[in-house]
Amino acid sequence: MSQLTGIRACIFDAYGTIFDFGSAAARCADIPEDKRAALTNLWRDKQLQYTWLRSLQGRYADFWQVTGEALDFTLDSLGITTPTLRERLMDLYLTLSAFPEVPDTLRRLKEAGFVTAILSNGSPAMLDAAVRGAGLRDQLDAVLSTDAVQVFKTHPRVYEYALQQLGMRAEQVSFQSSNAWDAFAASAYGMRVVWCNRYGQRREHLPGAPDHEVPSLAALPALLGPPADLG
Ligand code: LAC
Repeated sequence: MSQLTGIRACIFDAYGTIFDFGSAAARCADIPEDKRAALTNLWRDKQLQYTWLRSLQGRYADFWQVTGEALDFTLDSLGITTPTLRERLMDLYLTLSAFPEVPDTLRRLKEAGFVTAILSNGSPAMLDAAVRGAGLRDQLDAVLSTDAVQVFKTHPRVYEYALQQLGMRAEQVSFQSSNAWDAFAASAYGMRVVWCNRYGQRREHLPGAPDHEVPSLAALPALLGPPADLG
């Protein structure tokens, strides 16, 4: 496998890439067993659809609101009326588990000299809570929210914002996402991309071509040549 060279920063998507959004429903024992997977999947699908629809309409609302509205749609659709479940699931979204390989991978990247960052749709408060809850604050140089540009991925302004904040050019960044649509968009924007395809998604028929596809972030450090001089 050819290594990515000239990289200075590793930027990560958050939900589904660093944090396991399925861990919220998994911690609520009173969700009917036969509806647990459907709840997680529909909640995620609607959450993403609402980010795209709101971006198209020019009606931005932050990811906390969008996530809550997607959960309302999901609970209604599945006919789940379990008391206090909405509040508990939203609270749990603030303390999602990190995928098991994440802490060690970030530590190795930092030790190797890469700049590390998150670039996510999550609101600053959501991301701060999740990063601290998972004990990742010291492993990340920056936690960047699309809230700063008031539009969601995959608007190019989002990827541009990350480059501005880190003072990098697109080709100096390795962008990691488990979301095929996000991976393809970052690639189309000009970043180098490692698609962490943990959910076994199909390739998108959209602009972009991720440089690598891996099943877990544990494979990332070996894909990167030495960090380019930060000079
Ligand atoms: C994020 C979502 C898209 O963290 O996973 O931006």
